[in-house]
Amino acid sequence: MIIVLVGAPGAGKGTQAGRLVETYGMVHLSSGDLLRDERKRGTDLGKLADRYITAGTLVPDDVVIKMILGKMRELNASDVILDGFPRTVAQAEALDLALAAEGQKIDAVPYIMVKPATLLDRLGGRLTCRADGSHLYNAKYNPPAVAGICDIDGSPLYQREDDLPDKIKTRLDTYFAQTMPVIEYYRAKGLLREINGEQDIEQVWYDLLLAIGKQSEDPGLLVG
Ligand code: AP5
Ligand code: MG
Repeated sequence: MIIVLVGAPGAGKGTQAGRLVETYGMVHLSSGDLLRDERKRGTDLGKLADRYITAGTLVPDDVVIKMILGKMRELNASDVILDGFPRTVAQAEALDLALAAEGQKIDAVPYIMVKPATLLDRLGGRLTCRADGSHLYNAKYNPPAVAGICDIDGSPLYQREDDLPDKIKTRLDTYFAQTMPVIEYYRAKGLLREINGEQDIEQVWYDLLLAIGKQSEDPGLLVG
């Protein structure tokens, strides 16, 4: 199953993807996490990505497309969650072409819808694990058991440098200008599944499972 999780910065894509990994063993490919990892390792790609990530603007399409499609080929996984990619229509088209060449297709595009004021609030309180960026917390809504420490691996938590107010504004502007057309692209293909992301993490999770056919309307019935 191939799922593309879409939604604005702070909508909860990474949070929900983490649960899909834990519960169903799906492979989580977050373009943001991969780029930050390249930066941490000081690779040429990481150095190039750094100025865009720090500014809150998009890394050029050709670079990101090559990185993600390369990773997908390398992993050759059948159950994949794409998070943060595609973020432009050019990226979405490149993904479709690559999947078609392999005889694959996207199964569903859950769209976690959240209002800008909520996004600002969530991003302002987000805490990310230094060792593994997919371990996510929130000072207000999802705090760690011990302040400043990751529950999963004991590493320190930090605030992403693009989670500062002026960077958040640029990221939201970028999202509305460049990523909203991707949402319409998938709507036109009949793949979009709208989810109310204003709800708490547990309820969003329940609606996400319904959207991707992992759970029936009966909360007692989980489908493997
Ligand atoms: P990326 O890392 O993808 O960041 P983003 O899209 O801005 O998304 P976020 O990770 O900020 O939000 P999220 O939806 O994952 O929310 P989360 O689950 O953490 O991209 C970063 C940068 O990399 C980009 O700016 C760009 O430069 C570059 N880049 C990446 N991909 C690219 C691409 N394809 N093309 C070009 N450039 C690219 O949740 C947020 C907070 O809210 C957390 O604290 C969480 O605990 C909390 N929370 C989550 N759900 C709930 C809930 N239901 N209720 C209350 N709190 C909640
Ligand atoms: Mg994320």
